[in-house]
Amino acid sequence: MLKGKRIILGITGGIAAYKIAFLIRLLKKQGAEVKCILTPASSDFISPLTVSTLSENPAYQQFWNKENGEWTNHVSLGLWADLMVIAPLTANSLAKIAHGYCDNLLLATYLSAKCPVIVAPAMDLDMYSHDTTKNNLSLIEKHGVEIIPAEKGFLASGLEGEGRMAEPETIFKRIEEYFEVGEQLKGKKIIITAGPTYESIDPVRFIGNYSSGKMGYQIAKKCLNRGAEVILVSGPTQQVLVHEKLTLINVRSAEEMLKVVQSHFELCDGGIFAAAVSDYRPAEVEGQKIKKSDDTLTLTLTKNPDILFWAGQQKSKKQWLVGFALETNDAIENATKKLKKKNLDAIVVNTLEDKGAGFGHDTNKITILDLNNNSTKFELTSKKEAAKNILDFITNNLV
Ligand code: C5P
Repeated sequence: MLKGKRIILGITGGIAAYKIAFLIRLLKKQGAEVKCILTPASSDFISPLTVSTLSENPAYQQFWNKENGEWTNHVSLGLWADLMVIAPLTANSLAKIAHGYCDNLLLATYLSAKCPVIVAPAMDLDMYSHDTTKNNLSLIEKHGVEIIPAEKGFLASGLEGEGRMAEPETIFKRIEEYFEVGEQLKGKKIIITAGPTYESIDPVRFIGNYSSGKMGYQIAKKCLNRGAEVILVSGPTQQVLVHEKLTLINVRSAEEMLKVVQSHFELCDGGIFAAAVSDYRPAEVEGQKIKKSDDTLTLTLTKNPDILFWAGQQKSKKQWLVGFALETNDAIENATKKLKKKNLDAIVVNTLEDKGAGFGHDTNKITILDLNNNSTKFELTSKKEAAKNILDFITNNLV
């Protein structure tokens, strides 16, 4: 399965580093090529000799070798790898990669690497639950790094709680899975809409909605992780996503979103439309700020174009299209109607009746309906997991 796959294993200075010997062994047994980079502090926890013996490569530690003056080329190490895994990732190295520090070989390689990066944090429970750590984790996630969350259990400090590095077997399974799905969408181009739209009333006001864009961005991330090229057409959101195969086009209104979709859809293999597009917009946009005068103010609204409907009409036989339906009542019935009316291949339903599902939350509870009347229902999960389920459905049924 991992034969010939090139993996850089970054090891930072936490007690969990001793377990990495087992991870190297698991990877080597499956035929992977492994090069380990150690931070200065990590060799207190695992010996470079153990690492180099098991990986059958030097244990990379310094920018240059003091004995022969030879330079270790971090750029070529970064380019060599198909995948970079940093385990354990300490609070210190996490902070450094989150903010672009570059004072050791591992950090320089991280900054030079073109491949995806997966990290397995490990630290004491108070450090793991600290706001700074949480912020740094969410920052690297926004930079496209995948995090294997720390687990609960006994910690080296004698305390018990969340902070233990995921077991080597868990990290190994994630690496295997990465290579299994990593190529699934290679060569495919996917257009995704995400976030709300803002419809101007006057120069300072708009009609919008509470969509955070989280679902659409998680879907975009999953498509990128599986090798697709992604065009993400995003309404105004706080979400950040950076990837070399991502074209991010920011829009505000439904009409702007439609224009962008119209100019890219034909060249795409498929589309996933997760944006919460405003159904109506003010018929007139006032040139000046509307002044407060009467007790009531009436706005006349006009219907916005249905972007997904447009795409459904244009869709060729080779293309596939997935829409979303956020329903407050009769969810399945309404979504089934939309699936047909908009000429979709599948529709992802979420209802506001489910606690934790829908706008703003980090979780979602979805059901996927398709044209064969199949209905696949999922439990409440993180939006990340929901995105994985949607992508599994698409790759198994539509691509
Ligand atoms: O009809 P409804 O708004 O419930 O449909 C939701 C689906 O249609 C979502 O996939 C949404 O992104 C898309 N949509 C759209 N343009 C609109 C309205 C909805 O693309 N104007």
